Amino acid sequence: MKHLLNALGPALFALTLLLPPGLHAEEPTPAETPRQLPRVVILATGGTIAGAGASAANSATYQAARVPVEQLLAGVPQLAELAAVRGEQVLQLASESFGNEQLLALGRRVAELAENPEVEGIVITHGTDTLEETAYFLTLVERTDKPIVLVGSMRPGTALSADGALNLYNAVAVAGNPQARGKGVLVTLNDEIHSGRDVSKALNIKTEAFKSPWGPLGMVVEGKSYWFRLPAKRHTLNSEFDIRQIASLPRVDIAYAYGNLDDTAYRAFAGAGARAIVHAGTGNGSVAAPVVPALRALRKEGLQIIRASRADQGGFVLRNAEQPDDQYDWLVAHDLNPQKARILAMVALSKTQDSRELQRIFWEY
Ligand code: DGL
Repeated sequence: MKHLLNALGPALFALTLLLPPGLHAEEPTPAETPRQLPRVVILATGGTIAGAGASAANSATYQAARVPVEQLLAGVPQLAELAAVRGEQVLQLASESFGNEQLLALGRRVAELAENPEVEGIVITHGTDTLEETAYFLTLVERTDKPIVLVGSMRPGTALSADGALNLYNAVAVAGNPQARGKGVLVTLNDEIHSGRDVSKALNIKTEAFKSPWGPLGMVVEGKSYWFRLPAKRHTLNSEFDIRQIASLPRVDIAYAYGNLDDTAYRAFAGAGARAIVHAGTGNGSVAAPVVPALRALRKEGLQIIRASRADQGGFVLRNAEQPDDQYDWLVAHDLNPQKARILAMVALSKTQDSRELQRIFWEY
C-alpha cells in the first residue's frame, strides 16, 4: 500500500493543481494585513512625459506639456501597488521655458511637502531639456533626507514604445523606498537611478538620453531599486543652502567658447546685469587671448568669472592650469558642466560674494 501511495503521490499533487480555486486542500492563509503603502506626492510640471503626438508613429514630433497629472496617473494604474499617490499640477511647461521664478516656486512647494509628516516621498515629472538644472538646484536647497525623484521621458505617451509610463512607475518605486533616503535628489529614466548633481541630458533623441560622467547610482528593475554607489558631494541635509532663505536668484549667464571668439557676449551679459558669467571654455576651460582683457576688467567691476568646460563628456577644470586664476581672481567650475555651474553660482551668490568662499563651494558641491 505504502509503495502504491508513494508512486501515486506526485500524480495526486498535480491533480490538486488542476482543481478550481477554493477546492485546494490548503490551509486558509491568515488575512493579509494591508502593508502601509508609502505616501508619495507627484508634482507635475509638463514636458514630454506630459506630451501628445498626432499619431503613434510620432515619437519625436509632438506637443510637450499637454496631459494633466490626473491623466498621467490614470495611465499607470500599477502605481497603486507601490504607493498611495496623489498628484499636483504645479506647472504645465516645456522645460526649456523654465525661469528662476519657476525654480523657486517648485523648490518652495517641495520644501513644504518634505516637512509634511504624512509624505514619505516626492516625484517631480519634468521636461528633459532642463531637468538636470532643476535636479541640481533642488539638490542644493532642499533640507530633507526624504527621496525627491525627478522623472521625464523622451517619447510622448501617445507614441509606440513610449517610455514615460515605466519611467514614472520606477520613479514612484524609488520615491517610496526607504533605502532612497539620504541619497540626495535623484533622477530616474531608462531604468537607471542618477544623482541630481551628476546627471545631464547627453543625447536629445534616444531613450537612453541621460548620462552621469561618474556613472549612475543604481538601477530600478520591476519596481525594485538596486544601489551601487553613493553621492560624494554635499547635498540636501548636508547643504549650507536652504530654499526657505532664498528670496530671489541673481542673474548668471553662460558664454559659449569657440574659434574666433571675441568679448561681445560677455560685455552684453554684463550690461544686462549678470552677477557672474560662466565661460563654457574649450578643453580645460581655456580662454581665448582676445577675451582675457575684457574678463579681467569685468572681474574688477565686481562680476565673478567662472571657467567651465564645454567638453560634453564632462569637464574637469583645474585652478591656474590654463589661466592664472589666482592672479585674475577667477573661479573654476571643477567637474560641473556650464549649465550646472550656473545653477551653483546663482545659489552661492545668494549667500556670499567672497571669491574664496565661492571657490570652496564649487569644490564641495
Ligand atoms: N520641450 C522639451 C522639454 O519640455 C521636451 C523634451 C522632453 O521633455 O523630453 O524639456
